[in-house]
Amino acid sequence: MPRITTSLTRLLGLKTPVVSAPMHGAATPALASQVFRSGGFGFLHPGTYDKQTVQQEIHQFRLLLDLPDDASLPVGIGFLVWRLEEQAKANPEVSKEAVLTALENRVRAVWFSFGRNIGHWVRLVREHDASAGRPHSTLIFVVVSSAEDALVATNEWKVDVLVAQGNEAGGHGKGAAPALLALVPAIVDALPENGPVVVAAGGLANGRQIASVMALGAAGAVVGTRFLLATESAYQKTQKDAICQVVLGSTKRTMAFDELRGSLGWPAGIDGRGINNELVKDFDSGTDLDIVKAKLAAGTKEGDANRMVVWAGASAGLNRVVLNAKDIVQEIHQDILRTLIGTSALVDSE
Ligand SMILES: Cc1cc2nc3c(=O)[nH]c(=O)nc-3n(C[C@H](O)[C@H](O)[C@H](O)COP(=O)(O)O)c2cc1C
Repeated sequence: MPRITTSLTRLLGLKTPVVSAPMHGAATPALASQVFRSGGFGFLHPGTYDKQTVQQEIHQFRLLLDLPDDASLPVGIGFLVWRLEEQAKANPEVSKEAVLTALENRVRAVWFSFGRNIGHWVRLVREHDASAGRPHSTLIFVVVSSAEDALVATNEWKVDVLVAQGNEAGGHGKGAAPALLALVPAIVDALPENGPVVVAAGGLANGRQIASVMALGAAGAVVGTRFLLATESAYQKTQKDAICQVVLGSTKRTMAFDELRGSLGWPAGIDGRGINNELVKDFDSGTDLDIVKAKLAAGTKEGDANRMVVWAGASAGLNRVVLNAKDIVQEIHQDILRTLIGTSALVDSE
């Protein structure tokens, strides 16, 4: 049986070079544990960044895999750095404790995105691991959307994994991010030899697409939207149905959802990709914000996806079925293998 081997599979001991994203409101311990059991790697996202919530998420994950309290955990945990920073203004200890709780539980990886001083949090992790006598035991993933940011993360912070997030990505990201097919080679070519592992994120929903970014130099993929359609994701049925029903081209990068629900404070240039529904259209056409906010409240209550927040990447429309995470990972695995074998057959060895 042929195996897929990349720097990501070696780093994390994976069968399939696929990572499920730390999606706020969607990534669950059930999702991350099933992705892990199936050969990939999963991230958790605690809804709020405090010690108790982080501990609870990790506890759930541990139970699902039946791991003892002192075992290191084959899972990662994601933090939106600007939220850690906002919270730290009022009480620096709460944010710090949230991150340290993850480290004390020996998660395999942490993920930092969208902050003003990501280096500060990277140092916290490294210092913790060194003082615990386990130097560099936690892998650090950082999201980047340009070669310049990739070089800062590589040379200054010395992160382990760069998540190259293209414009197609669902949820939040850099509005001006290039398309993934341009971003991945730009980052890979800019990095020094022995630089961090590069994984690609944004619009990747099947193994053929993932094989194509591997051909560009990525060691694997971070997959978000495809896993929203996992039975284990916490996305509501209405939101899953909406993603299954739209056609390709139905998503848009926007600040509409954040403005309407008041989830503001993102660093400059960050917006979010979601389904271009009635709320986004109202917002763009300048409809009175109070009217649109009332629509959002009613739509959320009634479960009407046209008047709800539905984050989704540019792949929305490619997959129309909800599957178990295990089946998604296996389908992607087979698809990558078939594509890699199929493309090598295009080379004539004569
Ligand atoms: C519902 C949803 C929530 C997300 N939440 C976060 C988050 O909290 N932190 C983060 O760094 N990225 C978040 N993302 C972005 C993902 O990390 C990832 O980059 C993206 O989903 C990849 O693109 P795809 O959705 O097209 O596969 C989110 C994405 C979605 C769809």
